[in-house]
Amino acid sequence: EQGERTRLIEAHRAAAEYYAELLGGPEAGPGRRFLSERGFERVDAEHFGVGFAPPDWDRLARHLMGRGFTAAELIKAGIAKEGRRGPIDRFRARLVWPIRDITGDVIGFGARKLLDNDEGPKYLNTPETPLYKKSEVLYGIDLAKREISKRSQAVVVEGYTDVMACHLAGVPTAVATCGTSFGEGHIKILRRLLLDQAEFRGEVVFTFDGDPAGQKAALRAFAEEQKFVTQTFVAVQPDGLDPCDLRIKHGDAAVRDLVASREPLFAFAIRSTISRYDLATNEGKLAALDAAAPIVASIKDRALRQMYAIDLDRWLGFLNEQLVIGRITEMAGQAA
Ligand code: GTP
Ligand code: MN
Ligand code: MN
Ligand code: MN
Ligand code: MN
Repeated sequence: EQGERTRLIEAHRAAAEYYAELLGGPEAGPGRRFLSERGFERVDAEHFGVGFAPPDWDRLARHLMGRGFTAAELIKAGIAKEGRRGPIDRFRARLVWPIRDITGDVIGFGARKLLDNDEGPKYLNTPETPLYKKSEVLYGIDLAKREISKRSQAVVVEGYTDVMACHLAGVPTAVATCGTSFGEGHIKILRRLLLDQAEFRGEVVFTFDGDPAGQKAALRAFAEEQKFVTQTFVAVQPDGLDPCDLRIKHGDAAVRDLVASREPLFAFAIRSTISRYDLATNEGKLAALDAAAPIVASIKDRALRQMYAIDLDRWLGFLNEQLVIGRITEMAGQAA
């Protein structure tokens, strides 16, 4: 219902304003410290609308009810939860990032705890609501959409601080999923921005902080997306730094270089698979071949598959090109 949607958006806008105001207050010291340790200045926090959720049970709820929102509206919006004596705030003692839809309306929040021994998970998000569907939410999409279309490139990072770091470092095409893995709902949004005369021509570049969870997510998301696989790239920092940490340690140019160093998804998948084996021995090479051959065999385009078979042989230290090609052709034939 349109009226309800408008009310929930208004409640979010008022909440984001209140949180942003509180970031300047005396209790938000740990929040400001977190931001400055991450290399963000006050203007950066303002640009992204970052705010502070106070530790109280219901400060935001009382503020918003004083502005005419009902308890039912706050609960429906995901801003508050049902408490014994009225609504209580969902996010407490956390730094909060307003999450906007592509038109710029705030539809939810991501919230990070500030002390390791604070209760709850490191990050908390708005739950599923009439406004907030986590499988379709991309943090930063409102800021990135024009550049994504203009540059025919979207950069998918893992976190809120990574989006901020990328934009500040000169990668204004960065977006992040919010506490969920990248999936079909997200690619739909990017695909629309990357359409060129009804053809999907752009690049989607994934960056991860190098832990296996992040890598698996990328491969899973695109395993079934062979249509677009040649437009999918991966950019991983060898030392596993995420864009935010990379910017802190090595500066803006390093973040831009990371994106520029992207490799095609298949190259990344094959190389990271064989890197787990000892390629100094024949036994290790053969084991690596066993592990990587199914990836190459899964490539549907025949010419591309053959090129990667030759690459694989080279990456294995010139094992035996005929052996590698033969193995892959056989596997691909069985799959077909
Ligand atoms: P920071 O210390 O905040 O920079 O975290 P990190 O770089 O170690 O974060 P990590 O790479 O683990 O996570 C990046 C993103 O994943 C966050 O921005 C969240 O969106 C999400 N995330 C991480 N931990 C959690 C969690 O405990 N719950 C939820 N819902 N999301 C999480
Ligand atoms: Mn991670
Ligand atoms: Mn982590
Ligand atoms: Mn990270
Ligand atoms: Mn990080």
